[in-house]
Amino acid sequence: MNQDVLNLLNAQIGHEYENYVLYEQASAYFDAKGMDEAAKLFRKQADGELEHARKFTDYVRDAGGKVVIPTIKGQKSEYTSGEDVFLAAFTREQETTAKIYAIRDLAWKSSDHATFEMLTWFVSEQVEEENLTGKLLTVVRGFGEKNLYLIEAYLSHKA
Ligand code: FEO
Repeated sequence: MNQDVLNLLNAQIGHEYENYVLYEQASAYFDAKGMDEAAKLFRKQADGELEHARKFTDYVRDAGGKVVIPTIKGQKSEYTSGEDVFLAAFTREQETTAKIYAIRDLAWKSSDHATFEMLTWFVSEQVEEENLTGKLLTVVRGFGEKNLYLIEAYLSHKA
């Protein structure tokens, strides 16, 4: 595998683990407010990020590359509002999409069809992730911070 592609794939493993940390932190934020539905939603998202990290790890292993997991950077732990948390999630998903596109672009330019193909799953996944977090941000903004707890009823109704 092209070394530059491999480097980006390893960096992405770290990025996905950082997503996991962000969502765990978000889950804890809402748990502390007694908002079980929001806490559950973000815990589920966190689990998804672990799966993403492992998908990248397994792919690098299967493709014969060396797995080098970078230092995982801590994520923001103090939020000023519920909206702030949903905004952080949506922004992070947008960043994740951009990173996946960048790896896919490089894979294409490097004629690395296997990596390009593997990333197709992530392209679809990111459409879902951005849609989910973006929509929830819109809903939370619609309720307004003083009605933040209404998101609990909204989420329990959706589940
Ligand atoms: Fe792994 Fe939510 O992106």
